[in-house]
Amino acid sequence: MLPLLQNKERKCIVKDSLGRTLHDLRISVTDQCNFRCPYCMPYKKIVKDSFLEKDEFLEISEITRIASLATQLGVKKIRLTGGEPLLRKDINALISMIQGIEGITDIALTTNGSLLANKADELKAAGLNRLTVSLDSLDEEIFSAMSGGFGAVKDVLQGITTAGKAGFKKIKINVVVEKNANESSILDLVDFFRGTPHILRFIEFMDVGTKNNWEATQVIPSTETYRKIHHKYPLVSLDANYPGEVASRYAFEDGKGEVGFISSISQPFCQDCSRLRLSPDGKLYACLFATEGMDVKSLLRSDISDIALFDCFKNFWMEREDRYSEKRFFDAPQIQRPKVEMYKIGG
Ligand code: GTP
Ligand code: 5AD
Ligand code: SF4
Ligand code: SF4
Repeated sequence: MLPLLQNKERKCIVKDSLGRTLHDLRISVTDQCNFRCPYCMPYKKIVKDSFLEKDEFLEISEITRIASLATQLGVKKIRLTGGEPLLRKDINALISMIQGIEGITDIALTTNGSLLANKADELKAAGLNRLTVSLDSLDEEIFSAMSGGFGAVKDVLQGITTAGKAGFKKIKINVVVEKNANESSILDLVDFFRGTPHILRFIEFMDVGTKNNWEATQVIPSTETYRKIHHKYPLVSLDANYPGEVASRYAFEDGKGEVGFISSISQPFCQDCSRLRLSPDGKLYACLFATEGMDVKSLLRSDISDIALFDCFKNFWMEREDRYSEKRFFDAPQIQRPKVEMYKIGG
């Protein structure tokens, strides 16, 4: 493993231009997905040649090197995303390698759940700590529409059940809430997951990427979703698990579990944003809504030393001034510019 540089106790000592420290590295391992959710990669707008070629992907040894260096800037948590990360054949090997990095205390993975039933045991064995599964509805027709015609509820539920048996105890279930799409599914999902250890999180439909035809009128604010749930099952607020947590947490008053609300549109949370994102082709992004990323792959393949690479990461973080959701909140027209696609850098 790399020698420690300036950070003997691995404390976060590097701050960005707004005083924020770095904790999470979100690694997208592929831009491929077997779904076509209209809010992420709408079928008609995704042409075949918009995906990366085989030789453009970072190799798992390269990803591990980046993750290892990132620990020296304060990263403790890794989240693996996609596209659909379970489409990557060497995902288990990558997890094992990341697990071996000193300083990483948590490895999580976000999946659409469709391939999970066959892979949950291997993921656990490789060292994955936590799972997040996307599930926008329990109604087959609505779910099919929300996955672009490719998903089946039963497969995702089978994945969640199998993962629970494999030892993933508190699975986070992500629900993107979109007007005239799946509002009717909110209480169905609550009825289903209440009383289980799993945690539903309702996410406001966001203007990620350039292809989802986002309009503010399609957003259901979290306050509305909260009211709907609270009316049937009273909720009490919980403290954040850690500073900068994206979800506001609530418990059912009767003790039957927890739900969360992720409100990037109505209550932006850029103030404590501690996340860096790595794309499958090796670009580092300082924001989910960034236009450009730093080309780490070229640096890696130029035989750069660890010290020099570390300095590049450090400067990248120190120069960071991104706060897209806050800017959108105060002045929407100002933020009209090209944005990286969500399926290239993960949720
Ligand atoms: P843990 O705390 O590690 O369990 O994960 P998390 O709460 O950060 O949740 P997760 O990583 O699953 O993120 C949930 C969703 O929140 C993502 O799919 C995105 O839609 C949204 N999200 C996460 N991070 C950001 C962010 O930095 N900015 C914005 N605007 N949205 C985010
Ligand atoms: N708005 C909100 N969340 C989104 N995701 C993808 N696209 C959007 C969007 N437009 C999130 C979903 C999914 C994760 C991979 O990314 O939560 O679970
Ligand atoms: Fe695939 Fe996830 Fe995007 Fe849906 S949201 S298209 S499952 S990457
Ligand atoms: Fe962080 Fe950008 Fe999301 Fe704000 S919009 S919370 S800066 S990723």
